[in-house]
Amino acid sequence: MTDQNAPIGVFDSGVGGLTVVKEIMHQIPNERIVYFGDTARVPYGSKSKETITRYSRQIVRFLQTRKVKAIVAACNTASAYALDEIEKEVDLPMIGVVKPGVKAALSATRNGRIGVIGTEGTVRSGIYSQYIKEMEPGADITGKACPLFVPLVEEGLWQDPVTDEIAKRYLSELIGENIDTLVLGCTHYPLIRETLGRIMGQGVVLVNPAYETARELLELLEEKALLRCEESRLGDNKYEFFVSDSSEKFMRFANSIIKYGILSAKTINIEEY
Ligand code: DGL
Repeated sequence: MTDQNAPIGVFDSGVGGLTVVKEIMHQIPNERIVYFGDTARVPYGSKSKETITRYSRQIVRFLQTRKVKAIVAACNTASAYALDEIEKEVDLPMIGVVKPGVKAALSATRNGRIGVIGTEGTVRSGIYSQYIKEMEPGADITGKACPLFVPLVEEGLWQDPVTDEIAKRYLSELIGENIDTLVLGCTHYPLIRETLGRIMGQGVVLVNPAYETARELLELLEEKALLRCEESRLGDNKYEFFVSDSSEKFMRFANSIIKYGILSAKTINIEEY
């Protein structure tokens, strides 16, 4: 039987999934979390389905060794390409970020015209259009791949003229489409939300799927009677972080994103899993 006090496993190709971790910490504060950021192999967005599935499978195997009770693929690209296949292979509840993002977008839009920005892989997969259309056949979706956003975020250029310039070029195509909702379909993008919001203007709601993902995770844990019931004690190490490359840069990021005071992140060889 699954231990309800076991941690939740969360993974991404790098630091982007921390935007989801932050929301989980906020909405389900008593839960323990094991995070894995595949910093040695980021970006996933330009890789093939086979590679992304192989990487995600290795990460899931690693998280299983940490005895997690549920797994969140906090990466749109992995959710788009690998989740369906891997959730059939593991005996653990798994959720991704795409379905929650779709729900959030549909409840935000008034005119049914939705923009989706993401990695090349996510946009090419058409997964957002597919799920949105399944729920709202009349919706009109415009996808735009923004491949340079991930390296800009990973380089820490969250507020920088270079990011502004690139965002203007990418988003110009969407501005003429009369969209009223823009899905940040990559977990790195909430970190440049301010820039994106400024360029899109006030009439466009920016949807960060992280909020809805944490809400769905909470519902899932409740439904499966997996909510952690033990109390945290002072000094408990509730949150553990693992990466596949050097941990220094990751820690600087992690501390500026979730402001929790992360003391360490361990480097592991993910190829062993
Ligand atoms: N943060 C990831 C996503 O949500 C992927 C970024 C990347 O590795 O290309 O798609």
